[in-house]
Amino acid sequence: MTSPDLPAELKAALDAKLRGFSRNDAAGRAASISKTYRDGGGSGAIRSEADALAYALARMPATYAAVTASLNALVGIRPDLAPTSLLDVGAGPGTATWAVAETFPSLQRFALLDANDALRTLALDLARDSTRLRQIHYDRGEARAALAKADAAELVVASYMIGEIGDAEQRALAALMWEKTRDTLLVVEPGTPAGYARIITLRERLIAMGAHVAAPCPHDGKCPLQPPDWCHFTQRLQRSRAHKQVKGAELPFEDERFAYVALTRAAVAQRPSRVLAQPVVSKIEVTAKLCTTDGLAFRKVPRRAKADYAAARRWRWGAAVD
Ligand SMILES: C[S@@+](CC[C@H](N)C(=O)[O-])C[C@H]1O[C@@H](n2cnc3c(N)ncnc32)[C@H](O)[C@@H]1O
Repeated sequence: MTSPDLPAELKAALDAKLRGFSRNDAAGRAASISKTYRDGGGSGAIRSEADALAYALARMPATYAAVTASLNALVGIRPDLAPTSLLDVGAGPGTATWAVAETFPSLQRFALLDANDALRTLALDLARDSTRLRQIHYDRGEARAALAKADAAELVVASYMIGEIGDAEQRALAALMWEKTRDTLLVVEPGTPAGYARIITLRERLIAMGAHVAAPCPHDGKCPLQPPDWCHFTQRLQRSRAHKQVKGAELPFEDERFAYVALTRAAVAQRPSRVLAQPVVSKIEVTAKLCTTDGLAFRKVPRRAKADYAAARRWRWGAAVD
């Protein structure tokens, strides 16, 4: 399992960038960028080197943790997966690329694309001293145009990106990303009802085009969850001192909620159930909410079934279980 915390090389690169920048200024910029996101705006508010760094300090640890958790789930289902090429769509500061590089030592070719010049420049700076990522190819441009001329890759990732474009654009982008996917497409979004809705729409569209779900769903059928319920997961990550200062936060950790789907060209052999919430453990039984091949199930594992109960006590939200 890849750790959800930023790799040492990336932390060091961020710390080095932060030297010479005021943390108070970074905190102010991060707060105003977050407000723009909360008000439904996108990354257009990130225009300068200082904005890009503030965004990276405030958000990169959490988006990295969410992408890593999604990749860990994918690897759980596809332990044989060893992609050699990556295409990171809406790559921003390169977050998903770092997470994918940590997860797959097999990767040799990294292609990134994004419309935001400040984030692209930061990504190249952060990667400059990395042994693996110094050779990344980062195209600046609108996603559809840049994707159209990009080479296909075994793994295509779009992390916290599709929410920044309109619905018609999302439809076209989903088809184009799938066209460029040789093996697996991973899309990660915030774990809000709106983020989940975007994931589900993309999932349905691409299944109709022949895709299969590798994770989190154990089936290619309709999502069994009914509103106001929605499928999402959570990943805890540690906050560094700079991270806490930029966010004006006290706690040494945060929990990032995210939604994701990993779609593959070939159907996966194994389809274990997915734990959809933290199971409730009592002295009598473990109760777990599961997505199974037959739909939603609330499984009760009684204490008297000793071995099963002991195993179920270890189940965690997001895990794949038999
Ligand atoms: C919230 S950021 C996420 C960045 C990165 N993937 C991550 O997980 O940290 C969204 C990114 O999508 C990019 N983006 C949004 N719309 C785009 C478009 N139409 N074409 C290219 N990039 C776009 C933004 O510039 C921004 O870098």
